[in-house]
Amino acid sequence: MRAWFRQRYLDLLGSIYIYNEHRGYTAIDSVLEAVQSRWPEDQAFIQAIEKHRADERKHYMMFRRWFERRGQMPIAVDRACGHIDRFVGIMFRSTIDDLNPMRVVQHDALFERLCRVISLTEQRGHRQVEILLRHPMVRTDPTLMKIFTIIEQDEPSHWAPYDAWLRANGRRDPKWWERAIDQFIHGELLLLKLPILFLTPKLKRHSSWPDSHDGGRLAATPAALAASG
Ligand SMILES: [Fe+2]
Ligand SMILES: [Fe+2]
Repeated sequence: MRAWFRQRYLDLLGSIYIYNEHRGYTAIDSVLEAVQSRWPEDQAFIQAIEKHRADERKHYMMFRRWFERRGQMPIAVDRACGHIDRFVGIMFRSTIDDLNPMRVVQHDALFERLCRVISLTEQRGHRQVEILLRHPMVRTDPTLMKIFTIIEQDEPSHWAPYDAWLRANGRRDPKWWERAIDQFIHGELLLLKLPILFLTPKLKRHSSWPDSHDGGRLAATPAALAASG
């Protein structure tokens, strides 16, 4: 029973993570494209976003290898389990796929909102990984421990460029209500969605790897190539 519980928990944890990492780098692709077109001269910002994209892709690949070693495909969780999906959905009343980053970068009021959403999501990710690194079930899996240690080290550089943009442009920090939404989304995932998934029999698994449908847009940025190599 204990072994089943552990197996199920790690299976779901890995599946939620691989969804979020994939969602992360594919969503950053379109943000990057939009930032490059609006501020082509701001190479520092562009490179920081490229590095962020490369890291999320690297995280995705680490989870993919973890599943490959287990001889199992991830459970096919959808955007209901995506932190950034929910956050963008609430703040922009739009799915990530329908959000038009080209339009967002044309309006500072929208872009600053997006920067705060990304920054809060990354900070949440960092705190969550710190918790997982102390989790007794995670600690039984040395590969997962290695993965979460790398994510913990990478995370601070992920919110830094968006915070820097906000500061450089005289924009405000997140307000209490934006932090409350972030907290609500996290609570909803942890206390509602995860238990429901845990108890749902016969969850469907992916039949192919999510990255096999990426289509190659910006997949060949130098940072991305370095990370996936
Ligand atoms: Fe990540
Ligand atoms: Fe991240």
